Amino acid sequence: MTIEQAEKKLSAAGQEHVLRYYGELDDEHRRELLEQIENTDFSVLSSLEDGKSGNERGKITPLAAMQLGEIRSREQEFYKLGLEAVRAGKVGAVLLAGGMGTRLGSDDPKGMYNIGITRDVYIFQRLIENLMDVVREAGAWVPLYVMTSDKNHEATTSFLKKHGYFGYNSEYITFFMQEMAPACDREGKVYMEEKWKISTSPNGNGGWYSSMHKWGIADKAISDGVEWLNVFAVDNVLQRIADPCFVGAVIANNCAAGAKVVRKCAPDEKVGVMCLEDGRPSIVEYYEMTEELMNAKDENGDPAYYFGVILNYLFRISDLEKIREKKLPLHVVEKKIPFIDDEGVLHKPEAPNGYKFEQLVLDMIHELDGCLPFEVERNKEFAPIKNAVGVDSVESARALCKENGIEL
Ligand code: UTP
Repeated sequence: MTIEQAEKKLSAAGQEHVLRYYGELDDEHRRELLEQIENTDFSVLSSLEDGKSGNERGKITPLAAMQLGEIRSREQEFYKLGLEAVRAGKVGAVLLAGGMGTRLGSDDPKGMYNIGITRDVYIFQRLIENLMDVVREAGAWVPLYVMTSDKNHEATTSFLKKHGYFGYNSEYITFFMQEMAPACDREGKVYMEEKWKISTSPNGNGGWYSSMHKWGIADKAISDGVEWLNVFAVDNVLQRIADPCFVGAVIANNCAAGAKVVRKCAPDEKVGVMCLEDGRPSIVEYYEMTEELMNAKDENGDPAYYFGVILNYLFRISDLEKIREKKLPLHVVEKKIPFIDDEGVLHKPEAPNGYKFEQLVLDMIHELDGCLPFEVERNKEFAPIKNAVGVDSVESARALCKENGIEL
């Protein structure tokens, strides 16, 4: 792209300041900046207005979860069905590890965080140990796909290699990178992280399947016979991955997807809740919960919106293929965004100072015809690490690990 073309593109997007330092750059950095301008989709910034005013929602009605009682009574049947699928190589696992983990406050990828007390126990290690339980039961390796981003790919891959993939067979591990999106200040002007570089952030966890496809990994998985993908977050150190019982229940119910859910611990707990929206599976975010939804009851008189998602979903690949080209909504998220000031000095803010734009995995659910909410015991399967201290923190996750006999 020439400087004239760049000026035109930036002026159309109201982002002329991106070239503020152009005059002082050497040829190499000028080339880098022009290339980045060419490849950046500034149209995401227009979702700032939509995002702030809140996206229009359809009619919300309850979606019954499969609860522990029913699961226990059919456990053998589900387990057998799921284990057969795992053993036959039909189930892959997708670790979403492209996030920045800014709330935890470490510069390293979240999975590198050491939650050990008397020994080293890294988050990645905990997840792999959990997956190994199923590998042992099935006597077969589960293909593990790891999504990283431009910001943490190198650190993630070298860390896992250095630790011998914590005992996992590296032939069954595939890495791929997600896309990036520009990050902006509160006025919608993109930040600069270098004089020759627009600030970018990973574009959310919703683009994982299209990124898998772009990297040729989805096609490879399909030709290897993978039919189901269990997508999970990096930060829940107790979660069961490729859990045969969950896989079996989704297969037995002939659903396109399943979502592990936990009973909320309070009506206003900050988790998204499974529901139907205009008759299709969906998730109401905690900040969208009205008094009416919080107090609504189902036909048994129980709270109707009481099963929170824990970012552990099972998707049937053939259904993901059908929705691959669909554009997911962009969510505007307040974040701490490092930036350079007018003098070119880098700042790492302590509090959110702008917005990034994210697609979310939960919006994929809404595109599908059906999703089975599958209840799991929260004290056994839900120990997320979002913050350094307090709620959903290293402290709370350690306590839950201890409760489950995991030595740290
Ligand atoms: P979070 O919503 O907790 O975001 O991610 P985050 O960026 O990791 O953390 P904060 O908000 O900055 O503290 C939930 C899951 O989605 C993944 C994360 O790695 C985590 O497993 N994720 C998030 C991605 O893979 N890519 C993204 O762009 C965002």
